[in-house]
Amino acid sequence: MRFQWKSLFLVVSAVLLVAAVATAEDVPMADNAYIGSEACLDCHDVADLGTMEHDIHMQIQSFEVQGREVGCEGCHGPGKLHMEESDPELIRTFAKDADYSDSVCMTCHATKNLPEWDASIHALEAVQCTDCHGVHERTFKPNEACTACHADSRAAFELPSHHPLREGKMDCSSCHDPHSATEFMLKTRMRKADLCYTCHQDKEGPFMFEHPPVQEDCSLCHNPHGSVANNLLTANEPTLCLQCHDFHFHAGYRASDSHEVEIGGIERENPFGSEGFQIAYTTNCTQCHSRIHGSDTPSQTTTNWGKGLTQ
Ligand code: HEC
Ligand code: HEC
Ligand code: HEC
Ligand code: HEC
Ligand code: HEC
Ligand code: HEC
Ligand code: HEC
Ligand code: HEC
Ligand code: HEC
Ligand code: HEC
Repeated sequence: MRFQWKSLFLVVSAVLLVAAVATAEDVPMADNAYIGSEACLDCHDVADLGTMEHDIHMQIQSFEVQGREVGCEGCHGPGKLHMEESDPELIRTFAKDADYSDSVCMTCHATKNLPEWDASIHALEAVQCTDCHGVHERTFKPNEACTACHADSRAAFELPSHHPLREGKMDCSSCHDPHSATEFMLKTRMRKADLCYTCHQDKEGPFMFEHPPVQEDCSLCHNPHGSVANNLLTANEPTLCLQCHDFHFHAGYRASDSHEVEIGGIERENPFGSEGFQIAYTTNCTQCHSRIHGSDTPSQTTTNWGKGLTQ
């Protein structure tokens, strides 16, 4: 049964593949030929073509792209028939067929800059080069391009604690390469933490006394985009820590209301009241465990072999 489903799938994909190739051939090529960019400008006003006149694509030479056609026809394909008939149907455009643009751009960019594009989530989800890159108009603003489709991710940067994106100190592509096939398209080939270390070296260690979740994945505690809690934390303390740890047993200890302490020979009322232990142990764990990312200095208390991450 399973085998049959598989072969059906293969047949369907083969049919789809043929269909895709057929669409890419919709402009008749037989009598077509290249006429050069100058000829296009006989009929098309430079002013209508945005900044294309000064674009890098109008500067490159054929030898730089392994002998491929360059200029207008590098993207729009041969223009002879289109010129003869003045027929817009006879020239390649990018609006006509959504699958078109990628393959055209990729004739050159598969070897230049973007070897992984075809395997990226964006390519698999049929996102087009032109969804992010204005070609005739260089209106490319990376953050705006992303926000069009990822409003949620962008919105996280409006939360009280956030990476300084809206302050203009970084953008989405500080961490993501939108052409890559890495996990979450992150700019790292290794663990997620390696991305964070590129800017937060002090957290890398190696430390004598490590905190395992820090080694494993920063996002166990931090939301990389933004959060309500301070320091990009996924939750406030102690909730954050209590996902993995228990309260100290002291946290349940209640001092007597009449308890007095002797300070400098004078009996005084317990300044912390009867709930001193609860307050101390159930608010900020990092008040005492201040070296939460790891430490080379042992904790003052030794019963725990010095690995208490206190200082
Ligand atoms: C003899 C005049 C002439 C020449 C030469 C010419 N075009 Fe056109 N082109 C037109 C006309 C007319 C239209 C349709 C009206 C319009 O959209 O401006 C058009 C439309 C287009 C379109 C838009 C098609 C659409 O469906 O909206 C593109 C793209 C285009 N031309 C590219 C080129 C390129 C690239 C060249 C050079 C290889 C070129 N043209 C040379 C006359 C010409
Ligand atoms: C790097 C690839 C590239 C090059 C080079 C290029 N174009 Fe385009 N052209 C595009 C894309 C993509 C579009 C679709 C609109 C867009 O996304 O900017 C387009 C759109 C057009 C249109 C339709 C205009 C419209 O308003 O939709 C015309 C006409 C055109 N190009 C003519 C030219 C001419 C003439 C040249 C040479 C001077 C040229 N193009 C060079 C990629 C290119
Ligand atoms: C004829 C080959 C060719 C085609 C087709 C082509 N490009 Fe390029 N493109 C280049 C070259 C060469 C560069 C120069 C930069 C480099 O060496 O990486 C470049 C640069 C770029 C850049 C960087 C521009 C900059 O200012 O640094 C972008 C973005 C780009 N291309 C997008 C596109 C898109 C989108 C398409 C399809 C609509 C396309 N290209 C089609 C050859 C091509
Ligand atoms: C999801 C948005 C998005 C899509 C889709 C996209 N790009 Fe980009 N592209 C970017 C961003 C953002 C940058 C700037 C990267 C940076 O600064 O690190 C960029 C940079 C580039 C560069 C310059 C790279 C360099 O090394 O200097 C080229 C060339 C390029 N893109 C071509 C393309 C082509 C061709 C496609 C389609 C196959 C494409 N892009 C699809 C967002 C996109
Ligand atoms: C400081 C680095 C950093 C910046 C800047 C950044 N991201 Fe991310 N992004 C990440 C990491 C790390 C993940 C992996 C998710 C995780 O570990 O929870 C991620 C995940 C994502 C995801 C996958 C869905 C999700 O939320 O889990 C999307 C979509 C995304 N980012 C879009 C964006 C956009 C759009 C921007 C710019 C507005 C942006 N990112 C800026 C680091 C960053
Ligand atoms: C035209 C829409 C579109 C644009 C523009 C766009 N994306 Fe995406 N992106 C998608 C789709 C669709 C997915 C796959 C479904 C999802 O995870 O939302 C995706 C997925 C992602 C993911 C998650 C990948 C994973 O492994 O789960 C990241 C990260 C991401 N995009 C970053 C970016 C960044 C950065 C930009 C801007 C440079 C950008 N996107 C622009 C449509 C877009
Ligand atoms: C491209 C550089 C860069 C990368 C990569 C990066 N950060 Fe940051 N990070 C910054 C900058 C810049 C700040 C703001 C520092 C400041 O305001 O003093 C910051 C601040 C922070 C803060 C403190 C936020 C606050 O509210 O004060 C945390 C936590 C943080 N980053 C965690 C991470 C994590 C986790 C990763 C990996 C997913 C990461 N960063 C990746 C540059 C980066
Ligand atoms: C076990 C939870 C946890 C993990 C995992 C974790 N952090 Fe933190 N991080 C915290 C807490 C709690 C704070 C708040 C203040 C503090 O340092 O006491 C913080 C604060 C920060 C800050 C801002 C303050 C400062 O010390 O500069 C940065 C930057 C940071 N973390 C980066 C990282 C990076 C990078 C990773 C992954 C290598 C990581 N964190 C993993 C819990 C964690
Ligand atoms: C994702 C789970 C996780 C989170 C969240 C977490 N920890 Fe840990 N923590 C661990 C693990 C696992 C160990 C190693 C335990 C071991 O070696 O027995 C550890 C070890 C410790 C140790 C050293 C104790 C020992 O016996 O090694 C201290 C202290 C500690 N964590 C405090 C904290 C504090 C404070 C927070 C909140 C800021 C926190 N942890 C958040 C998983 C977590
Ligand atoms: C008043 C200071 C203080 C506060 C607040 C505090 N701790 Fe501790 N914690 C310590 C000390 C000191 C040790 C070392 C005990 C030892 O070495 O036996 C310790 C040990 C630990 C250990 C190691 C395991 C053990 O029982 O020996 C863990 C895990 C831990 N604390 C988690 C937490 C968490 C989670 C919080 C917040 C809910 C917290 N601590 C709040 C002082 C504190």
